[in-house]
Amino acid sequence: MKGEVALRTHGNASSKYERHVLVCGGTGCTSSGSPKIIEELEKQFADKGLTDKVQIVKTGCFGLCERGPIMIVYPEGSFYSRVKVDEIPRIVDEHLIGGNPVKEFLYEETVAGDEIKSLDDTSFYKKQHRVALRNCGVINPENINEYIGRDGYEALGKVLTTMTPEDVIQTILDSGLRGRGGGGFPTGMKWKLARNIVPNADQKYVCCNADEGDPGAFMDRSVLEGDPHVVLEAMAIAGYAIGATQGYIYVRAEYPIAVERLNIAIKQARENGMLGKNIFGTDFCFDIDLRLGAGAFVCGEETALMTSIEGNRGEPRPRPPFPAEKGLFQKPTILNNVETYANIPQIILNGAQWFASMGTEKSKGTKVFALGGKIKN
Ligand SMILES: Cc1cc2nc3c(=O)[nH]c(=O)nc-3n(C[C@H](O)[C@H](O)[C@H](O)COP(=O)(O)O)c2cc1C
Ligand code: FES
Repeated sequence: MKGEVALRTHGNASSKYERHVLVCGGTGCTSSGSPKIIEELEKQFADKGLTDKVQIVKTGCFGLCERGPIMIVYPEGSFYSRVKVDEIPRIVDEHLIGGNPVKEFLYEETVAGDEIKSLDDTSFYKKQHRVALRNCGVINPENINEYIGRDGYEALGKVLTTMTPEDVIQTILDSGLRGRGGGGFPTGMKWKLARNIVPNADQKYVCCNADEGDPGAFMDRSVLEGDPHVVLEAMAIAGYAIGATQGYIYVRAEYPIAVERLNIAIKQARENGMLGKNIFGTDFCFDIDLRLGAGAFVCGEETALMTSIEGNRGEPRPRPPFPAEKGLFQKPTILNNVETYANIPQIILNGAQWFASMGTEKSKGTKVFALGGKIKN
């Protein structure tokens, strides 16, 4: 499945490339050396005339960071793990030129005797169902066209052209989505309050909490590094639902790759008319700016986060009033976590019932986990 979807983006019939080499450019693999792998691939490609035949794609996190640097070659879907620079010449000669994956460098669980198994058959991946992470490790997050190629911005188009704001809110309510930032508040309820609590508000805001201060938690970082456009699309949908025209993403400065990719994504979304004025030719206008957090754990708390965006010391303020009524700059505001937003476009496209068919009785959908410490993977 993962191989097929990647092929739709990398190696499809219209692609001029025979092969695609996906190299993980997430923080984990970057620190274990993936930039050097890309450098060596580029050097080998130039020397061996492969530049026009094989495309190198820098992706976000595949999830198996402990095995980094990670590299997948399509169309075969061969999964190379803990790749070393000195292994690259053999992979280029034997696999990319010769057509035979180098079995001894492959992730061992994908090799069974003479057969090479799909990654989805491995113990790490076989029970995973990726919704929030569906594009991570599949697309180049710095290219809006790859996001669009995976149905990106289709949900925004759908809400702006076929749904009322009330329909959107009802869909999110029916989906049973609850906030992934810790409190578990029903997302649709939050949006409904922000839409209705102050009729005729002159300004409203949509905020995204990307402060992710909990030690060992990298769920939001994976989404931001691997699929930044999904957060922009979801925030625009939220803006339409509550009647806001401005969004802010509060992202911790300790996530430089996420910050860089968000900046690129915002620029590309503006250039392509997905952010800014009259989106999809409708009356809806919405833009997003970034604000960097300086590392205070408390700034992940929603009222402290808003105080920090306002330019003041990030201290929590008493609730009530709740942000839906008086949030950022005292205006009605919704604030959701990165992972919460990452579910929104898929809920719009696949329907509330699809999302509600997964998860537990009281909390629907899937959950991203970051695992660390003395564990196998
Ligand atoms: C001390 C403190 C730190 C928090 N840190 C975060 C954080 O890093 N990221 C986050 O999304 N929520 C954090 N929260 C929860 C937020 O206040 C808020 O409930 C959440 O971002 C709302 O989004 P959601 O409804 O999508 O979960 C924190 C809460 C407290 C009290
Ligand atoms: S950062 Fe490469 S697999 Fe996670």
